[in-house]
Amino acid sequence: MYGNEELVEYIKEHVIGFKNGFKFYPDIKCILNKGFENYEKRIRDMEVYDDDVWLLTYPKCGTTWSQEMCWMIMNNVNYKGAEANIFERTPFLEFSGMVDSDILKEALKGTPMEDTVTYTENLPRPRLIKSHLPFALLPSQLLEKKPKIIFVLREPKDAAVSSYHHNRMMAGGYTGTVDKFFETFLKGVVMNGSYWHFNAPLWEMRNEPNVLALTYEEMKKDLESVVRRTAKFLGKTVSEEDMSGLLDHLSFNKMKTNNAVNMKAFAERLKDFISKLPAQHGEAPPPSSGGDFIRKGEVGDHKNIMSTEMINKFNETHSKMKDDLEMKDFPY
Ligand code: A3P
Repeated sequence: MYGNEELVEYIKEHVIGFKNGFKFYPDIKCILNKGFENYEKRIRDMEVYDDDVWLLTYPKCGTTWSQEMCWMIMNNVNYKGAEANIFERTPFLEFSGMVDSDILKEALKGTPMEDTVTYTENLPRPRLIKSHLPFALLPSQLLEKKPKIIFVLREPKDAAVSSYHHNRMMAGGYTGTVDKFFETFLKGVVMNGSYWHFNAPLWEMRNEPNVLALTYEEMKKDLESVVRRTAKFLGKTVSEEDMSGLLDHLSFNKMKTNNAVNMKAFAERLKDFISKLPAQHGEAPPPSSGGDFIRKGEVGDHKNIMSTEMINKFNETHSKMKDDLEMKDFPY
């Protein structure tokens, strides 16, 4: 059992992605959907190469943004190449395991998302791989082969707010209340589990030579210096000539309208999927929050939606979790 059974029941009722049940990892405070079971061993046993770059993030902390940044740096700012969909260039390792619905599986047939593990295995090297899996569920070879690992952190209240919108908008399909969502986030009863249990092992690795720690907030504040630091870590350089174009390419407005990264095509597929859901599950589709995947891109957005009481609850949980999990010097 996972603990917080009442919340577990709540999300079973209110998250369409969990309709087929859960896979619990109580030791690392993680919940995934049942379908992940079919991918767990394949991922653990996967071959890792020392020239891989693994981008590991808790969901909604700036994955897509840093993914595009890393891909551009690794590929010498190749705008033509970057026209291919981001899912093709830098796969989302466990994605196929997150899809339990037959309708959605059907919709993804023939795309790289049909079997993201095979797709990742066959990707030309050096590979840039995205994952939202906790470190304990990633390939065991990550520790032996020591590929480059980049992780990106985001302030937890902002991550929770971004996650709330994402879950209403995309086929995680959350139909519950906003406060209940924040409660589930605080207790780790959300897809991918606890923010703190996810980030603690990454934070512990931050000083390893093959690891680079970034934050969403520093990307917002000074993207150029993050690009330079990342390029140095990846053994690449971005010329002065290329820098301004790259910063423009990575700007919020450009990314929002860039169909290779803004998930519009994927959201279109989901729309169709969601419209078929009532027949499948006997209930109304989730209300859309009307946003885009690249939604608002701000620091401090939680102030627009969280009550003072909820902010206090988050701050208390955050300090307790940092103590419990010994996340010394964690940036928030
Ligand atoms: P918001 O929902 O707060 O707007 P992920 O890629 O990990 O799912 O993270 C998504 C979050 O990153 C969203 O946050 C999204 O808007 C934000 N984001 C994506 N591209 C961005 C950019 N170029 N600049 C700032 N924020 C960006």
